[in-house]
Amino acid sequence: MSGQISESKINEIRERTDIVELISQYVSLKHSGANHTGLCPFHSEKTPSFSVNSARQFFHCFGCGVGGDVFSFLMKTEGLVFPDAVRLLAERAGVELEEHIPTPEEEQRERQRERLYRVNEVAAAYFHQLLMEHPSGEPARQYMKLRGYGRKASGEYQIGYALDSWDGLRTHLEDQGLAADDARILGLLRPGKQDRGDYDLFRGRLIFPVYDLSGRIVAFAGRVLDDSKPKYINSPESPVYHKGRILFGLYQARQAMRQCGEVLLVEGYFDQLALYRAGFPQVVATCGTALTSDHAQLLKRYVQRVVLLFDQDAAGKKATFKAMTVLQEEGIPAAVIELPKGEDPDSFIQMAGKDAFRARLEKARSAMDLFMEDVLTEAGNGIEQKVRAAEQIVEQISKLSSELEQDLYLKELAQRSGIDLEQLKQVNRRIVGRVQQHKNTFSAPPVESYPLPEPPLPEERHEQHLQPAKESGSMPDWSRSEETLLCLLLQNHVSHKKILMAGGLALFNHQEARDVAEILLEKSTDSGLDLATLADELAPDKVRLLTALSLLDKGQFDEGVDEVFSGCLEGLQRELKKRQRQESIDKLRKLEQGGDTGTMKDANNLLKQFKNLK
Ligand code: CTP
Ligand code: MN
Repeated sequence: MSGQISESKINEIRERTDIVELISQYVSLKHSGANHTGLCPFHSEKTPSFSVNSARQFFHCFGCGVGGDVFSFLMKTEGLVFPDAVRLLAERAGVELEEHIPTPEEEQRERQRERLYRVNEVAAAYFHQLLMEHPSGEPARQYMKLRGYGRKASGEYQIGYALDSWDGLRTHLEDQGLAADDARILGLLRPGKQDRGDYDLFRGRLIFPVYDLSGRIVAFAGRVLDDSKPKYINSPESPVYHKGRILFGLYQARQAMRQCGEVLLVEGYFDQLALYRAGFPQVVATCGTALTSDHAQLLKRYVQRVVLLFDQDAAGKKATFKAMTVLQEEGIPAAVIELPKGEDPDSFIQMAGKDAFRARLEKARSAMDLFMEDVLTEAGNGIEQKVRAAEQIVEQISKLSSELEQDLYLKELAQRSGIDLEQLKQVNRRIVGRVQQHKNTFSAPPVESYPLPEPPLPEERHEQHLQPAKESGSMPDWSRSEETLLCLLLQNHVSHKKILMAGGLALFNHQEARDVAEILLEKSTDSGLDLATLADELAPDKVRLLTALSLLDKGQFDEGVDEVFSGCLEGLQRELKKRQRQESIDKLRKLEQGGDTGTMKDANNLLKQFKNLK
């Protein structure tokens, strides 16, 4: 790769990669306290000492001492060098990597973004201070109190107040020496007519800062303190704010979301606040916009299910079903909580309390179920209307990513509508076929993604060993003992002489291990192996294997090199016997089947061998 990957890119990728999700693809993790734990993939163990901290985006094994971030995890498990690990995770996280030296324009843009964050930060601190301290902030403090919020909540979200003035923020930014240009790009200042100068966008409003996933403020929402219109105004889109990709409260909620595996999706800023405070911290709000597939993908990194809590009117229902579709297309099941007419989550909690809300949450029903009921009820009993309704529902069902689910809902629909299941299935097939054809005709061929191995089955886990990816994508063909022995050799824990005394290359049962051992015995010196130089003369797959080996943690030899070494020899002996046994069996079979091709003597000899091998 030419050029280097900027520090900020690397941070962005790290931030956008869910370490728990990544590691879960290799290790079966269990939730425990603030961490996730499982059996360490880097050394063999029976009780879990491998722990992943999602808040700190860090893993650590208390058994073998290995630890690091998402990049080092991938380097170790896949045997990759750092730039490759970065590239892989970038692709996975959908982060564009400029594999070139940034142009002056790009550098300028990056600097601009940094300035924009800075302006937002200064503005947020200014608004917050007005709400908390300033005499003119009194009406806003009263308003917060009226809605049941004290200083603590305001502090936690850094809620603020914008003075009812045309130039409060403008003057403050000027005093801080910050450029009006940047504030204008953020929409915080608006250019006045003629030479009137800029004026503040937010005036006399309660201010909610909107955070991105790294806790930077990217936008604001402002609510009036009375009934005037518009009730809310929001920051416009800017180089740091794309409302289709930001969810209000995600920064605060993501931990809880991961813990309970679900998220409550609400429409309003105050709904987010209210549920969060009432003991349902797994809640986010869209910022005055419909749910997008970017939102859905974002949520998918944290949860297995989305519970929709939109308004209980016709528009809310429409939004619910639209969100359901968007979620379904990303393979996320959607559930719905119904509230009494006219209530939103905030008002419901105020009125009925958190226990009542919890009861409703427990009774959340599948969004598809509600959709079915809704469409069928609307259609009434007329045959034609009913058929049209059923078609509309099947259309929706066909969008489910799982065929099993499609089947279940089709059955449900058959039952509810009284239409024959086979008929419904046929309609479904027609629609699915149509969509498929459409996809084939219009979309580019799927981009081949990097094949991440399936997580190991529990009983296999402690047998798991380093499996560096090769060019072909297949795994190295060697056993755990062989791998450990190679590792000992590579890291100069055992001398060449000792290996040669123990049997040399013949120790290794698998060709690939033997090849690598040969390289090690031939090329490595007292000071180890010079991979950089070797890279030129060895085949790339061998270089990869060696790199992977060199990344294995030395901590695994803590129990004593000699013991590990003799353990390996024993293991290899066992493997050898096993293989020879298998060979004998195969030969015996052949003799049995072939009849006259073998003699009794041969068979007896083989049987004897076989017994000796036990
Ligand atoms: N909204 C908006 N702009 C508006 C009105 C609403 O962006 N002019 C968005 C806000 O995110 C708001 C959400 O839509 O929170 C729901 O609007 P609404 O139900 O009208 O307000 P509530 O959230 O109930 O606000 P409150 O409880 O403060 O009255
Ligand atoms: Mn409300």
